[in-house]
Amino acid sequence: MKRLRYAILLFTICFSCKKTVEPRKTGLITKNAMVVSARAEASKIGSDILKKGGNAFDAMAAMQLGLAVAYPYAGNIGGGGFMVYRKSNGEIGALDYREKAPLTATRDMYLDEKGDVIPEKSTLGAMAVGVPGSVAGLFAVHEKFGSLPIEDIIKPSIDLAYKGVIITKKQETKIKRYQPLFLKANKDSILFSKVWKAGDTIKYHALAKTLERILQHGKDEFYKGETAKRLVKFIQENGGILTEEDLAKYNVKWRQPTTFMYDDLKIISMPPPSSGGICLAQIMTMIEPYDLDKFGHNSVKSIQVITEAERRAYADRSFYLGDPDFVNIPGDTLISKSYLNDRMHTFSFEKATLSGHVSHGDVQVIESDETTHYSIVDPFGNAVSVTTTINGAYGSKLYCSDLGFFLNNEMDDFSSKPGVPNMFGLIGAVANSIVPEKRMLSSMTPTIVEKNNKLFMSLGTPGGSTIITSVLQTILNVHEYNMTMQEAVNAPRFHHQWLPDEIRMEPNSFNDTLIFQLEKLGYSINEKDSPVIGKVDGILVLDDELLEGGADYRGDDTAIGF
Ligand code: DON
Repeated sequence: MKRLRYAILLFTICFSCKKTVEPRKTGLITKNAMVVSARAEASKIGSDILKKGGNAFDAMAAMQLGLAVAYPYAGNIGGGGFMVYRKSNGEIGALDYREKAPLTATRDMYLDEKGDVIPEKSTLGAMAVGVPGSVAGLFAVHEKFGSLPIEDIIKPSIDLAYKGVIITKKQETKIKRYQPLFLKANKDSILFSKVWKAGDTIKYHALAKTLERILQHGKDEFYKGETAKRLVKFIQENGGILTEEDLAKYNVKWRQPTTFMYDDLKIISMPPPSSGGICLAQIMTMIEPYDLDKFGHNSVKSIQVITEAERRAYADRSFYLGDPDFVNIPGDTLISKSYLNDRMHTFSFEKATLSGHVSHGDVQVIESDETTHYSIVDPFGNAVSVTTTINGAYGSKLYCSDLGFFLNNEMDDFSSKPGVPNMFGLIGAVANSIVPEKRMLSSMTPTIVEKNNKLFMSLGTPGGSTIITSVLQTILNVHEYNMTMQEAVNAPRFHHQWLPDEIRMEPNSFNDTLIFQLEKLGYSINEKDSPVIGKVDGILVLDDELLEGGADYRGDDTAIGF
């Protein structure tokens, strides 16, 4: 079959004498402001906030809630996230509102008496739930940088929840796919148990009421108030360990972003407990010496260099990275040029390096793991990049009907047992073991890029372990391969994460000749397991200072601006 496809391809190349010049594909272009997110309803909420005179931070908070209503697949108040920002004056920062392990969590809580990982315990139902950070996150952002009253931030989502959201075709498929798991995780039928068809409207009354209480009493409503009590009661009735104390003790952290140079670009990304910034820095620094633009986009040589850098970075990720409040991470060394040049010494274009021959690098540690992304640029020039998640699709599938939202299964991002892969196939070590109040390692990579000291891009994506490599390819598509934002988002993606030792590729996107050549060099190709890799939403500042929004066609993602 492969041979036949190869022959057809050769025939097509040799005998097509007319060369058609495809017009460049661009996303929405606006002058003043742009927001891009997984749903038009959430993007509209963000854009309206900006039109009203609010800034990117107001829009961030409003869209976190907008997505919680319009996109329950990943948008949330029952999960957590990260924000990276760059203010118009060049000031940068990051907010960590990642979930935490409950106080009574233990290292071996997902293992049986024999020490084996108990299937589904860290992914399905109440035991999988980490202490949610999203409400604290949006309040922290609003308190520090917001300019509009909190009512303006929360009210649009309350209205949307009452009015309801129209089901799209993609949503219809997803709800149907996960219904068997909703049944397994919940004692009673939930809002999503019935048959929903594209075009139907789902109304979220319980969520609207929860948001009204949050508007009335502030952040404490979720962490100490009536909502907190009802949430804890619900989780415990379903066999979970979360307590009122867990909620009351939850705190967000402002952090210094991980920054590094790639050619003339300054990349500003999420530091630990995300692995995103460090891995991105490692991969980009390892590939910088190679002429990717000469090799060509998705050419054998480009794929080789990128794959080999990814392999080495993910090997380090699994060993060194975890919550910096609990483990010492040799961050500076891990992203230093000398260390990374050395890491690539074993690479040759002649043959794949086997992951079995690659381990984490030797670095001295000094003592002392469904998601959605949205990008915003406001009329003042502030940029915000936010990735937020409940981890799996509809999180733990546990839906609190009383309060109207899904709870995360973020606990699966910890390493339940060293060497045993989590739901994204990621392997972890002691650095990412479970400890009470520790945050689980993440791959979320909200990123902002500067060029010549000016804002150039704001981007990010969902996709578990493939987040980092999707962000990487999108930046390279613009910078190395001269694509528009929309082309960069649309381009086919591939991914390597050290283990399993394979290059995952989006199916039907890479030609047979290329795959054949890579296989000959010793690379295993997997086109089966990832129908799509990432769902990137980004904004590019064009030469004339106009903004181009790139909304990923892989979802219902939408750019809105003015
Ligand atoms: O934080 C992480 O890396 C994961 N919880 C992200 C999950 C995700 O992207 C799922 N979406 N496809």
